[in-house]
Amino acid sequence: MDNRPIGFFDSGLGGLTCIPYMMKSLPGERIIYFGDTARTPYGSKAVSTIRTFSMEISDFLVENDVKMIVIACNTVSATCLHDLRERHPGIPVLGIISPASHTVSRTCDPDNRIGIIGTRATIKSDSYRRKILSYNKRLDIAQTACPALVPLIEEGIIQNEIMDLSIRYYLDQFIDYNRIDTLVLGCTHYPLIRKNIMRLYPGIRIIDPSEEILQSVKDTLERGDLSSGASSGEHRFYASDLSENFVSMINHIFEYTSFNVVFSNIDLDQRKGGINDGY
Ligand code: DGL
Repeated sequence: MDNRPIGFFDSGLGGLTCIPYMMKSLPGERIIYFGDTARTPYGSKAVSTIRTFSMEISDFLVENDVKMIVIACNTVSATCLHDLRERHPGIPVLGIISPASHTVSRTCDPDNRIGIIGTRATIKSDSYRRKILSYNKRLDIAQTACPALVPLIEEGIIQNEIMDLSIRYYLDQFIDYNRIDTLVLGCTHYPLIRKNIMRLYPGIRIIDPSEEILQSVKDTLERGDLSSGASSGEHRFYASDLSENFVSMINHIFEYTSFNVVFSNIDLDQRKGGINDGY
């Protein structure tokens, strides 16, 4: 039994899409979330930059005594998973790409036409394709980067024409040409536009890594005897720039829960100087 919180992080608010699955299925676990909203998006940055940012955030989570780190970001999982595991050998560090790749390999066959969408860094890393093929090398996979979607989502431009046009700009030809029937949302921001995608491409099957990672968290808790014994607690949400959109997204997620939620603004460079409670 271990009552320490589980640490999650992402470049911004995308990783929040993992949280409702955790809350529902693991109600006794406390969460510390960090969104690097001041420096998002990561997906078009150099791998060395993504690594530096990820190290800073993971150090912050470890200083806050987390029992596990969940990389709720495909871009970081694709580029820095091994570095983060090396840096924090004392606790499990979970990436988001393996669980979803495993689901793809279990549920698809060679007749399926699988599409992966993600940030430039994720697609360039080829991590999803390599992982899925390591489970089943007969699967048919195409992939494409959609770099403008994350900044729009961070701005809260979701249910409207600009978002639909942007999705169509990236996906119309990709889906049509590759005859995609299964689409992996290889960026944790994309579940926030899942409805748009389903409306624009009806009939396509969606695989959501933000949901798939839940099973890995459960397995890791069980294997390490790390489950919490407490039944309630406080969740903490930190951001490097506590934007209105970030706070309203969290409020939306927690609308129907009885948990206490605490928000804080964190300047990673200055964090030794303390935390400023923002909201
Ligand atoms: N949500 C992220 C991901 O899953 C990051 C996107 C970004 O910052 O570009 O890749």
